Amino acid sequence: MNQHLLQEKPTTQHADEVVKVAVAHGDGIGPEIMDATLKILMASGANIEPEPINLGEKVYLAGNSAGIDQAAWKTIKQNKIIFKAPITTPQGKGYKSLNVTLRKSLGLYSNVRPVASLHPYVHTHFPNMDVVIIRENEEDLYAGIEHQQTTDVVQCLKLITRPGCEKIVRYAFEYANAYGRKKVTCMLKDNIMKLTDGLFHKVFDEIAVEYPHIKAETQIIDIGAARLAANPEAYDVVVTSNLYGDIISDIAAEIAGSVGMAGSANIGSEVAMFEAIHGSAPDIAGQNIANPSGLINAAVMMLAHIGKTEIADRIKNAWLTTMEEGYHTADVYQKDVSTKKVSTSEFADRVIANLGQKPQKLSASVLDKGKGNISIPTYTRKKEEQVLVGVDVFINWQGADPEQIGESLSQIDAYKMKLKMITNRGVKVYPNGLPETYCTDHWRCRFVADNAVTDYKNLSYEPIVYEQVIALLSRLNNEGWEVIKTENLYEFDGRRGFSLGQGE
Ligand code: NAI
Ligand code: MG
Repeated sequence: MNQHLLQEKPTTQHADEVVKVAVAHGDGIGPEIMDATLKILMASGANIEPEPINLGEKVYLAGNSAGIDQAAWKTIKQNKIIFKAPITTPQGKGYKSLNVTLRKSLGLYSNVRPVASLHPYVHTHFPNMDVVIIRENEEDLYAGIEHQQTTDVVQCLKLITRPGCEKIVRYAFEYANAYGRKKVTCMLKDNIMKLTDGLFHKVFDEIAVEYPHIKAETQIIDIGAARLAANPEAYDVVVTSNLYGDIISDIAAEIAGSVGMAGSANIGSEVAMFEAIHGSAPDIAGQNIANPSGLINAAVMMLAHIGKTEIADRIKNAWLTTMEEGYHTADVYQKDVSTKKVSTSEFADRVIANLGQKPQKLSASVLDKGKGNISIPTYTRKKEEQVLVGVDVFINWQGADPEQIGESLSQIDAYKMKLKMITNRGVKVYPNGLPETYCTDHWRCRFVADNAVTDYKNLSYEPIVYEQVIALLSRLNNEGWEVIKTENLYEFDGRRGFSLGQGE
């Protein structure tokens, strides 16, 4: 453990006590699979007391654009554990994704999605696949900060934070440790995004050394996703940022056999939420044919999380036994392999009948006490010296010739700053651009101190003061340039805190 990080209070162990859980029955197939799963939970001796909460389609359509009411928030805050069936987000303007709202407002930073094949009982090309995707759940492009800046250009901010990276990477290693996993693979695109994905990679390297018994590797996300799809059996735990994790966890679930099978956990330091990875499947709602397995597996993860590991094993083994017997819902039914095509409720009844059984061929679940108990230290900020060394001024200009805007801005009295370069979509177009480069109406104009050292490797920029930036902006405005945004350029402890222009 990193000594500069404080220990957070660990998850309480609830092996035998009654645990109250906020339960959302959801929309579409939600109520059917939730009833089936709760019936199993009640029969298993889990000592769970469900407290229903109101969220989803009905709440949206009643005019609440967040899809969740105040009473539900209160129950969630009291119970700290949410068990949620899928909900339908109505199409149309103004409805915010309830999942994103819950994840971000409750600080559910880690999205854990285990995907294992059940060969030969569920059809898959990968009989030995057993992967856990651990996806960062709060930041990255999902921060949802988007702006249109000019006629040509819209922007989405990708926010990656050190506390976010430290929490998710440590969670991945702690998870591997707790569940006896051997390898953690980190997938990123830091060859392109050197600062954002680069930070994630750096934190991964820093934390990996604290777990010498777990193999650590990094892969660029494009080849990583391709290899995961082609050879998933080579992977164990995969940790990645929000968008990549969203994509690769669907790939993993799909190639393992059925989206109806996988459960997921959204873990925060105070609250945790458990759900199936699939949606509300309106196409089969109300027919009692949906596969409740995704939600059953989510329930197993919930029980492990609250320290009820024995009951988690009991349910998981009864479920594995049922799958092995060939009692299959329509989505995974195969004529040659299955023995009986069952409804949602028949499947649940069979799992209940199998409580106490262990699978014969599939490996049985064995969670030691405390296995679900992962605690992540609180982040402590290490302050860096932050020095202003310049400004990128983004200008909306309808002209086409970089030389024209470049020459013009070079003449401006820039308060002891000078124009260093101009880029368009990140590519340097002034000075010495190429005539082939296509230019939009969105020009990034970099101003640094007059006597700034131009050798970037020898990082000693001349500091400037913010008054110079304000004066420069005022001058640009007076001369008719339309400034649409600025980004300050900083050094942090003498390290450049901004990327260079391509071709700079
Ligand atoms: P979906 O996952 O609901 O359905 C995709 C396909 O898989 C459908 O053909 C469906 O019948 C099938 N399927 C899904 N779960 C199944 C199960 N348990 N058993 C048998 N077949 C199953 O995804 P879709 O259609 O894109 O979304 C439907 C609704 O669900 C949308 O309103 C969406 O916003 C919502 N949704 C909610 C989620 C959540 O609450 N966590 C997650 C994903 C989607
Ligand atoms: Mg998704």
